[in-house]
Amino acid sequence: MNDLLQDQGGEAAGPVECLGHIFTSDSARREHFLKLLAEKLQDPAFRQQEGFPQGADAAILAMSDPPYYTACPNPFLEDFVRHYGKPYDPSVKYSREPQTIDVSVGKTDPLYKAHSYHTKVPHLAIVPSILHYTEPGDIVLDGFGGSGMTGVAAQWCGSAPAAYRHELETQWKKQGKAAPNWGSRRAILNDLSPAATFIAANYNLPFDVEAFVKAGKQLLKEVEQELGWMYDTTHTDGKTNGRIEYTVWSEVFTCPHCAGEVNFLEEALDDASKRVKDTFPCPHCGAHLNKDNLERVLEARVDPASGEAWKRVKFRPALISYVAGGTRREKQPDQGDLAVLAKIEALPLPSNLPTVRFPIEQMYHGSRIAPKGFSNIHHFFLPRAAQAMALLWRKAKDQPDFRIREMLLFFVEQAIWGLSVLNRYQPIQQGKPGGSQVNRQLTGVYYVGSQHAECSPQYNLGLKLDRLWKAFRDYKTASGYAAINTGTAAGIPLPSSSIDYVFTDPPFGENIFYADLNFLVESWHRVTTDAKPEAIIDKFKKKALLDYQHLMQRCFAEYCRVLKPGRWMTVVFSNSKAAVWNAIQVALQQAGFVVAEVTALDKIQGSYRQVTSTTAVKQDLVISAYKPNGGLEDRFNQHGPTVDSAWDFVQTHLKQLPAVKVTSGYPQELLNIVERDPRRIYDRMASWFIRHGTMVPISTPEFLAELPIRFRGTDGMVFLPEQLVEYEKARARIPQVAQAELFVSDERSAIDWLTNFLLKRPSTRSEIHPEYIPQIGSAKRKGEIIPELDALLEDNFLQYDGDSDVPNQIANYLSKNFHDCRGLEKSDPVMKSRAKDRWYVPDPNKAQDLEKKREKTLLKEFETYKAFTGRKIKESRLEVLRAGFRAAWSIKDYATILSVAHKLPDETLQEDEKLLLWYDQALTRTEAGA
Ligand SMILES: C[S@@+](CC[C@H](N)C(=O)[O-])C[C@H]1O[C@@H](n2cnc3c(N)ncnc32)[C@H](O)[C@@H]1O
Repeated sequence: MNDLLQDQGGEAAGPVECLGHIFTSDSARREHFLKLLAEKLQDPAFRQQEGFPQGADAAILAMSDPPYYTACPNPFLEDFVRHYGKPYDPSVKYSREPQTIDVSVGKTDPLYKAHSYHTKVPHLAIVPSILHYTEPGDIVLDGFGGSGMTGVAAQWCGSAPAAYRHELETQWKKQGKAAPNWGSRRAILNDLSPAATFIAANYNLPFDVEAFVKAGKQLLKEVEQELGWMYDTTHTDGKTNGRIEYTVWSEVFTCPHCAGEVNFLEEALDDASKRVKDTFPCPHCGAHLNKDNLERVLEARVDPASGEAWKRVKFRPALISYVAGGTRREKQPDQGDLAVLAKIEALPLPSNLPTVRFPIEQMYHGSRIAPKGFSNIHHFFLPRAAQAMALLWRKAKDQPDFRIREMLLFFVEQAIWGLSVLNRYQPIQQGKPGGSQVNRQLTGVYYVGSQHAECSPQYNLGLKLDRLWKAFRDYKTASGYAAINTGTAAGIPLPSSSIDYVFTDPPFGENIFYADLNFLVESWHRVTTDAKPEAIIDKFKKKALLDYQHLMQRCFAEYCRVLKPGRWMTVVFSNSKAAVWNAIQVALQQAGFVVAEVTALDKIQGSYRQVTSTTAVKQDLVISAYKPNGGLEDRFNQHGPTVDSAWDFVQTHLKQLPAVKVTSGYPQELLNIVERDPRRIYDRMASWFIRHGTMVPISTPEFLAELPIRFRGTDGMVFLPEQLVEYEKARARIPQVAQAELFVSDERSAIDWLTNFLLKRPSTRSEIHPEYIPQIGSAKRKGEIIPELDALLEDNFLQYDGDSDVPNQIANYLSKNFHDCRGLEKSDPVMKSRAKDRWYVPDPNKAQDLEKKREKTLLKEFETYKAFTGRKIKESRLEVLRAGFRAAWSIKDYATILSVAHKLPDETLQEDEKLLLWYDQALTRTEAGA
């Protein structure tokens, strides 16, 4: 009902349908659900939920537009999914290969730029994934939704322009993929922060774009009428009227030699070049000054909110940028300007200006702002900016139409940072003088610089409305296509197995402190984040790496619960620390997901690189993981950790992996699929058992020996029979196979590198040595002992002694590459002499013998770690630790895992996904048993 009207972006005037009820109008719908929400807010149990934001009922209700959006946990979410979703039906066939994305596309799109957030993944980067994994009407979830770009992407699939569709379909066709089914998907968006969900709601719920822009223009006009006098100035000719765009305030310091006051901008800024001089003379005593030897002045003031004594860094107006006679000009403030500023300062503080104190002691950036005198919200606004921001907010709040009101707040809240003292004066931009001073705050931190550009509301917001109009005019949203929840991703009020796809971009470690940063905007809404469940590493909130890992694990477990079996999740990872990367890997696997692909975008080659080394995480990574299908889990529950269940896992896992991957460049190359590597498959299988808390029912050597008997293999990869047919078809078309990049960072990767090398070219030690040595470079882990080349060869490979027949591996290589060996028998003396002393990769049976022998040696060395009594084992062999932990796990000897782990430096454990997984499980089991 009334879908047409809503699809045009407006609010329906007539009857509307919502969750199966018919309402006479959209306002009636809202009124009905607001009443229900108000009742719910009275329930103490509802309010006591983890992640419930802090704010009075009225403030939460004022932000909310139920059932679609609530600025608290959404009690209607379950109904939404039951009403609009498709229940999980195991008989419905679903099969997709992992798909990667390029997170850098779409950063200039006007819709993406319509509202900023501390970090954003552009909707255009997400659209291809949604099209790939879902069908129109399916439900996509993002539990760390931030500004709601996943929802925008989901709905945008329904209004993608023809040119975009054509381009994507052509690209997919080249990759051998069928065209997607276009059409809007539904989105469930969640975030801990009300500031984020408010942006997400406004991006995703329909509104009348034209009416909003009109109301926005009216709002700016009224603000101008009321406060215009504050921005009037007189041109230096003494008669022409001018209009202030921004006033530059400079911090005042004292000279360390004569204690005279130094206005930083007046003395240090070169007027012509607009650059800060390296040194400049003191205006009083002439001493050489620079930024570092100036002394900060804290000015005694009276806090206008509390009436108490307050000390703040001293700012003076130093420069005015204004327009007079149609020309932009600059001048120093004159007596008239100073008189206006004095008049404004004498005005009472606007009643709606927030005055709350920041939780300074728990804030990472608290020590940057409090010592300068900025501890409460109102401290961040100079008197004129305080009047302007408060009036903008009040005017937006006064708007009678609900959706237009919310959109006006969405519009004016974007000026909060830019009108505050956080807005730095940046006279040089991109190496040149000039440029806009709008929203020039340092991103991701609270930092008050020593030069502040205090902008007029018109200057900050004047051009924004047209941009918003352009951004929203062609984007169609509809009621019933998005539902937004404010709370922790560790507990989203959704039914189990109800979601078709998860796309998510969680916080990564200690990069950005969202709850702290959102406090400034949230205090205007009077609803702030409950920072306790925030997934973050922050020493001020007493959250270490392991706490972060466990928080993430709970969130991923929730994703796993609500996702339908066999369905996919895409996780975008952007942090360069191996420890955080491993925490995420372990959290994912512990939560029940199986990782099927990890890729990074190679910007130079324009293709995706599969990630093999966990220490070399330098770029944004994309993890594709799936929830194992119900059948596998059921069989496991019935039969337990048997050898058969291990093969059952492999069978199911292989099905989820792509059969063919092709580079996008020309000429095309087939990519080696890292996840099809036998050892990688073993690791995935082992993690799955470990996460179920059971022993791994088959050892690595047995597994590796039996794998080629049970499955099909080629080019070092394992396939299901039908996948091999597909791969071979592609191989016939594209003979070139690009090898995955291998970094030698530890013993295991050194062995892998040698295996790759010797598979291609069985060689003597003197041939291997010069090629191998340069590989052990910067990627080597700290504290890791990599055995010498000879020991590696001895323990893992075979050397031909020249007596028996030449083994196949060497004979094939020689007859292909040496003229004199072409067509020779393996017993031929020429062949034998060419083959002598060459190292080669053993066949599976021999490899099993070698591997068993090696395992014994590793375990013997592990005994020395067990017996070690010093403080820390500074240098260790990862392979020894892995073998030792594996063996201890298999006999439930958790104490050994924990005691050796405690002797290792933190990084050794944190930077290895496998050790971390065993350690974490051993800890859980020990605590559970304690
Ligand atoms: C990287 S941002 C997501 C940005 C988003 N992709 C966008 O385009 O706007 C991560 C978000 O996770 C949120 N967050 C942190 N801990 C959370 C938790 N436990 N539950 C839900 N959200 C959380 C933060 O508030 C932040 O908005």
